[in-house]
Amino acid sequence: MSDDRSNDSEQPQNADFPSMDVHTDGNSAISGNVPDPSSSDRREFLEKATGLVAGAGVAMAAWPFISSMNPSADVITKGVVEFDVSGIHEGDVRTLQWRGKPVFVLHRTKEEIAAMEASSGGKDPEPDEDRVQNPQWLIVIGICTHLGCVPNRTRTGWLCPCHGSVYDNSGRILHGPAPRNLDVPDYKFVDASHIAIGRA
Ligand code: FES
Repeated sequence: MSDDRSNDSEQPQNADFPSMDVHTDGNSAISGNVPDPSSSDRREFLEKATGLVAGAGVAMAAWPFISSMNPSADVITKGVVEFDVSGIHEGDVRTLQWRGKPVFVLHRTKEEIAAMEASSGGKDPEPDEDRVQNPQWLIVIGICTHLGCVPNRTRTGWLCPCHGSVYDNSGRILHGPAPRNLDVPDYKFVDASHIAIGRA
């Protein structure tokens, strides 16, 4: 007399070995790891389609948020960005980002203004009054005119960490390899506490 349970336990455990299911209606079917190209293709297709639908859903849900962060068409056309400088106290400097560039905004003290007005700078002489619209505010692009590093703030101006160019509190080059003063961007005061940088 045969023992079915012992036969079951002695079946090969090879993952590639197909197993046979016997249904109660008497039909039988081979299942398990039997290669079935059409089933595999269908599963792959369904997985890709599900991924595409999910991705589209996320994009559609996020679009209003992304869209709201974009500058208006008017701003894009003119490249003008407005900044509130009311929080920059006298003697402080703030670095803004404009068109991917750092812009230094220095709220100068009376002493700093007097010192800059009494000097014409160094190797690229320029009167201070030609570099500011309001003596209290110096606004310059914070990129060294030598090879493009971002200078660090010092008590008397800026020092470029790359090759040692020294700029004063008017952004004028005093020493080092930089050939010219820090550039002054196009800007205007919208009111006492707001500046608009860019060509209007
Ligand atoms: S990049 Fe500033 S001194 Fe060279």
